Amino acid sequence: MKVISVGLLGLGTVGCGVVKIVEGHQDKLMHQVGCPVRVKKALVKDLHKERLVDLNPELLTLHAEEVLDDPEIDVVIEVMGGVEETRHHILRALHNKKHVVTANKDLMAVYGSELLAAAAQNNCDLFYEASVAGGIPILRGLVDGLASDRITKMMGIVNGTTNFILTKMNNEGSSYEEVLKEAQKLGFAEADPTADVEGIDAARKMAILSTLGFSMNIELKDVQVKGISSVSEEDLNYSKKLGYTMKLIGIAHREKEKVEVSVQPTLLPQAHPLASVQNEYNAVYVYGEAVGETMFYGPGAGSLPTATAVVSDLVGVMKNMRLGVNGKSMVSPQFQTTLKEKEE
Ligand code: NAP
Ligand code: HSE
Repeated sequence: MKVISVGLLGLGTVGCGVVKIVEGHQDKLMHQVGCPVRVKKALVKDLHKERLVDLNPELLTLHAEEVLDDPEIDVVIEVMGGVEETRHHILRALHNKKHVVTANKDLMAVYGSELLAAAAQNNCDLFYEASVAGGIPILRGLVDGLASDRITKMMGIVNGTTNFILTKMNNEGSSYEEVLKEAQKLGFAEADPTADVEGIDAARKMAILSTLGFSMNIELKDVQVKGISSVSEEDLNYSKKLGYTMKLIGIAHREKEKVEVSVQPTLLPQAHPLASVQNEYNAVYVYGEAVGETMFYGPGAGSLPTATAVVSDLVGVMKNMRLGVNGKSMVSPQFQTTLKEKEE
């Protein structure tokens, strides 16, 4: 029986979650795709670091080519973060006919169309569900579930770290610095949390959501951004007294061909459903012309929730491998964007 071999780029918060799910859910994976999955290699920076999983140390490597050029590796899972180096790794993996799953919104918000085109040229899948809203299957929800509708607006909380910070400051009176450290310790924040607190991470996610939801190429530079680093405890206390809760809200709105996308701290009435989204949880309203209002809700960051999205993408790749339709699937996010590029 064929065994699907996976190469990991990165074995941190998300990478360790991926190993746990691949090892712990073999029966479910077998049931879904009819063959076992194993992690064959994992690229790291430090071979001696203590990790959240007990992976055979012989599977760790400091050399990217041991993952990218290994003919036995079918699927590369990129969970190392970063942009330029990672872009080269993914292009090399695709060139070597390996399917790729990534959780990297920094990369997809900037080089998404280039990478998706490279994947299509090589008949490979490139899936990136975990790049937006962690464990919530919102990209597939938009591209597959709402495929027949015209999306007019998306609005919600798409950054777990800032929602965690605002929740703890608001509910427990904790200091900004203290809660940011806690978010880093829990693995919600980016390696450099500036992108989280300045709203850039949320802006990247809104760019990806808008690109898929509105079927047009929306880039990070198209998003107006303001973060929460200047929000004080006094601001939150005052808002609370007036009956409001502050949240970092992303809004993408389309009217005819005009699109506006922004991320900013926003005062919501305490009874508003988004006001009750706590800690690292995310929630996004999606409005469609036909469906009306839908809401996606769940954990937006963290090891196992994010890894669930990554491994579900892996299952998608494996199902396509069985059917021989990698890079061709009509229902994949990559099809839509590649089609758009061809039109342009
Ligand atoms: P992390 O905990 O910092 O892990 C990064 C891993 O990549 C580490 O194992 C690190 O090696 C390795 N690595 C980093 N740079 C490397 C390099 N140049 N060469 C070799 N190995 C390198 O990060 P994470 O939180 O898992 O996030 C990974 C990706 O998932 C990011 O793109 C992030 O935006 C995205 N994401 C994260 C979450 C979340 O909740 N954390 C949610 C959704 C998406 P060492 O361990 O040896 O240092
Ligand atoms: N740093 C990100 C967040 C991780 O806090 O939302 C999930 O993308």
